[in-house]
Amino acid sequence: MKKLIAATFVGLAALFMGPAGTAGASELMSANVDISNQNALQRGARLFADNCMGCHSTKYERYNRVGKGIGLTEEHMEEHFIFVTDEEGEPVNVGSLMEIAMEEDYAEEAFGVAPPDLTLTARIHGEDWLYTFLKSFYRDESRPLGANNTVFSNVGMPHALWHKQGWQELVEDDDGNERLELVEGGSMSPSEYDRAVRDIVTYLSYLGEPVKLERQRIGVFVMIFLAFFTLLAYFLKKEYWKDVH
Ligand code: HEC
Repeated sequence: MKKLIAATFVGLAALFMGPAGTAGASELMSANVDISNQNALQRGARLFADNCMGCHSTKYERYNRVGKGIGLTEEHMEEHFIFVTDEEGEPVNVGSLMEIAMEEDYAEEAFGVAPPDLTLTARIHGEDWLYTFLKSFYRDESRPLGANNTVFSNVGMPHALWHKQGWQELVEDDDGNERLELVEGGSMSPSEYDRAVRDIVTYLSYLGEPVKLERQRIGVFVMIFLAFFTLLAYFLKKEYWKDVH
């Protein structure tokens, strides 16, 4: 029995500790995303399309469905999101799955490992991990692509957003603790970069569970209905009981 209880505790602890980070002792930062913020979703989608979709597919979703979910028209999706062409060299239809043009074999050769599909990455890793991951690339000349990451050591991905964030280095402070320091600025200030990363994570979070947004919308109507119904019930009760006392 004792063993069973101990095992249950270990299991629960593992659950609460969340998805196992790939490596690294650094603490996760809080992503603090709000998927009902449509502006953030749209900014994140655009950043993702421009900076990530060259390597990462999100092929369990379709362009038009995503567009509808985050409030972008089909024309907008066609213009800004579709980079993949069909056999005839025409851009694929807006109802297609969000695949990428890069061949897996080529990707494996280039990066050592093919960039995984990211449709479900927010559910696999959690929002905080993603947020921290995108903020934790640092310069490491010993790596083939010149970059490493404190939450995903020896990552095969280059620092895709270096032109925005600039470069960080891993430094040791007086107490011997390691931390990241920005040594070369990018096109964004640190707070702008934080927002950009939060926007990307917001989009990935939506992508991982589009129905969550729907649920929140329905939830609001349910609350309004309940409030209305409570009021109605209250007045009805008053009406019924007014002659009793
Ligand atoms: C030049 C190609 C390239 C670009 C651009 C790129 N990535 Fe990656 N990414 C990779 C590769 C390769 C891996 C696999 C790394 C490994 O397993 O070591 C990866 C891994 C990841 C992972 C970890 C997924 C997992 O489950 O292991 C996430 C999350 C991720 N990328 C997000 C992004 C985001 C967000 C962007 C855009 C800001 C982006 N990537 C841009 C190549 C790229």
